[in-house]
Amino acid sequence: MARYAARVASPRVVNIADLRNLARRRLPRVVFDYVDGGAEDEITLGENRSAFEEITFRPRQAIAIPHCDLRTRVLGCDLSVPALLAPVGYSRVIHPDGEVAACRAAGQAGTAYILSTISGYALEEVKAASTGPVFYQLYLMGGREVAEGALERARNAGFAGIVVTVDTAVAGMRERDFRNGMKELLGPSLIGKIRFSPQVLARPGWLASFLLDGGVRPLPNVVVPGRGPMPLIDVGSALAQSTICWEDLRWIHDVWRGPIIIKGVLTGEDARRAIDEGARAVVVSNHGGRQLDGVQATLRVLPEIVSAVNGQIEVLMDGGIRRGADIVKALCLGARAVLCGRAYAYGLAAAGEAGVARALEILRTDLERTLRLLGCPSIAELGRSYCQCL
Ligand SMILES: Cc1cc2nc3c(=O)[nH]c(=O)nc-3n(C[C@H](O)[C@H](O)[C@H](O)COP(=O)(O)O)c2cc1C
Repeated sequence: MARYAARVASPRVVNIADLRNLARRRLPRVVFDYVDGGAEDEITLGENRSAFEEITFRPRQAIAIPHCDLRTRVLGCDLSVPALLAPVGYSRVIHPDGEVAACRAAGQAGTAYILSTISGYALEEVKAASTGPVFYQLYLMGGREVAEGALERARNAGFAGIVVTVDTAVAGMRERDFRNGMKELLGPSLIGKIRFSPQVLARPGWLASFLLDGGVRPLPNVVVPGRGPMPLIDVGSALAQSTICWEDLRWIHDVWRGPIIIKGVLTGEDARRAIDEGARAVVVSNHGGRQLDGVQATLRVLPEIVSAVNGQIEVLMDGGIRRGADIVKALCLGARAVLCGRAYAYGLAAAGEAGVARALEILRTDLERTLRLLGCPSIAELGRSYCQCL
């Protein structure tokens, strides 16, 4: 990690946009765009960010804050900052240390990591990398028997809860991935890859580490009985064949017998349904603008969900978090904590674990500075009175 820390140190990297620039320089276009891009016209992707500009702060001046309290609890887990690492599929393609590096950095920073079903590392190995809480994000790819196997392993490994993503009935249409040949990169055919090889050859550092890591690997947590780990190339069609429905929740409860978070809620009606189905928390999320383009920015729908839930379960949100001030705004509007996706994925691409650690450090420092400038001593005291919607 120390070897890479200089790569992301200040003043080279002072904010998440700097990590994004480094990611763009290190990754082939196909992989950078996979991380960076959104669905169709990328309207929702852009809205997730611009919604933060519609909120302004109302600071209380001339207040000394000897100690600033950033701690919170999510599903009974103590976190030192109200920002968890969101599930990011194919992290091992972004950097060979992938999910293990991100999870370790989360634990070091005192926060939680959510492991995607689409992971390149076995869930036991990822869990062992962190001293902090780790959650498992569930897709039903491959069917119920496959999911039962993963959930049993997650329980035995000590995962703190599961995150059921409900916005992925089919994979979103990410046009950059089609143009750049993401499918070809993940597929077995060498001939298919030739057309896209110049962009990959232009990033020899990434290519060398990718090949040394064994190239594209099957999914060790999606083990199909009689066939073994599912190949990465099958993910799109497997998702389409295995839509998670509300009716599946009872069965998931019976198998998991622990806390469940529903990720991808965008209406008060679905938030109420999540409560009825026994969820302990919801994540207000549009998958970072990667699924249904044209849905509202998550920050804009957050108040509707907070009001529908009325304190019965915890409300988290994600989408567009790039600064500590964004986290403060989400908390002012009622989120208990946020999830960060691209903010740390750019760091992972730039410098592996050191890059994720740097992303978390930037967000934490930003957060504390913003609270001090607001005259608010603790995140628990944040609320509507500290901000104004334009
Ligand atoms: C490259 C990438 C891969 C993702 N993979 C998953 C996934 O496997 N499962 C999931 O529930 N969400 C996935 N997401 C969505 C994130 O968990 C999160 O909702 C989103 O990134 C939040 O928006 P942000 O990137 O603006 O922070 C992915 C996001 C990105 C950027």
